[in-house]
Amino acid sequence: MSEVIQGAGDSVDRREWLARCFWSIITLVGLGLAAPLVGYFLGPLLRRRETLRVRLGAVSDFQANQPQKVEFVLRQRDGWVTEEGRHAAWVVKRSTDDVLVFDPRCTHLGCAYHWQVKENRFLCPCHDGLYDIDGRVIGGPPPRPLDVYPATIEGGELFVVPLAQRRS
Ligand code: FES
Repeated sequence: MSEVIQGAGDSVDRREWLARCFWSIITLVGLGLAAPLVGYFLGPLLRRRETLRVRLGAVSDFQANQPQKVEFVLRQRDGWVTEEGRHAAWVVKRSTDDVLVFDPRCTHLGCAYHWQVKENRFLCPCHDGLYDIDGRVIGGPPPRPLDVYPATIEGGELFVVPLAQRRS
């Protein structure tokens, strides 16, 4: 009599053990399959807003000491969204390895300025702000020089990251 009871207990334990093994394996397989999916869907949320650098052209295409306005498409990735927008910059080539790239907004109230060839200066028409070719304030209300975009020259090509940086 006692053998039968003991046998039944072993059978229940074995069945319970097998069930635990089965569910453990199912859980591990499920986690293994879910992890990449969770990473795929939530990964972009953890990434910082990314601004891609932009190629503005060959340095040799710019005339020395003749500021030139360049328009370009800026692509920004934020989470799952990639936005494209038209932007501009003023390029001032001083020499083949010395190029300044200005944010096209006046540092007073953000108006668009332009280059005056005869006067050899930038003029902001909103409040008559004036800047020299290096972006230094030479007249009007602008509180600081023109902001610049970080620029690099690689293989003769000019690249910028269009995030304006203040100069003192
Ligand atoms: S916005 Fe340019 S001078 Fe005021």
